[in-house]
Amino acid sequence: MASPILFFGLLAFVFLAALASDPNPLQDFCVADTNSQVLLNGLACKDPNTVEASDFSSSGLHIAGNTSNPAGLSVTPIVAAQIPGLNTLGISLFRFDYAPWGINPPHTHPRATEILTVLEGSLEVGFVTSNPPNRLITKVLHKGDVFVFPIGLIHYQRNVGKKSATAISAANSQNPGVIPIASAVFGSKPDIPNGVLAKAFQVDNAIVNYIRSKF
Ligand SMILES: *[C@@H]1O[C@H](CO)[C@@H](O)[C@H](O)[C@H]1NC(C)=O
Repeated sequence: MASPILFFGLLAFVFLAALASDPNPLQDFCVADTNSQVLLNGLACKDPNTVEASDFSSSGLHIAGNTSNPAGLSVTPIVAAQIPGLNTLGISLFRFDYAPWGINPPHTHPRATEILTVLEGSLEVGFVTSNPPNRLITKVLHKGDVFVFPIGLIHYQRNVGKKSATAISAANSQNPGVIPIASAVFGSKPDIPNGVLAKAFQVDNAIVNYIRSKF
């Protein structure tokens, strides 16, 4: 009979494997067939004989995005939806532009760890550990600095420079997903009941309605 240590070791391994991000590919590539109606984990493959270089390529990432919005942020994603060849490869890329004092509001990626580097400007970045102790781990980054946001943890960036800032990040999923905390909680459709949010945030209904009106 296997020892309890072996048993729990195996259990931990199975659990960790289940938590890991995108599974390894079983073939050279599986370029997404954007016309397929088949629903599966990832996207259906198109015939490998019809694959072209353009399936593995995109352009324009040197162009700054439009940051004229309340957050002062532009995100240009390069995920499987932009490059069909990324399907099943477990990786993606993002460009971020921040207006002065612009933010990437607190959010989490359910399927990826993110590694970010600052190309221009200065960013304050941070992530919060699980509960307990919900510790904030934060740092100011300058051009060329790199920071990692571990999978699933709530994180943010803020431009603390006088000029606009630019960053590039990579993530270990073809489709990291994003859960913006404020809009997911206060802007869900349909609403999370007011009573739930009032109790959760320890405020009254009027405050819940006010925050809701922003999303
Ligand atoms: C940037 O976005 C704002 C708000 O949507 C819009 O009014 C403006 O025309 C955009 N600027 C450019 C250069 O596209």
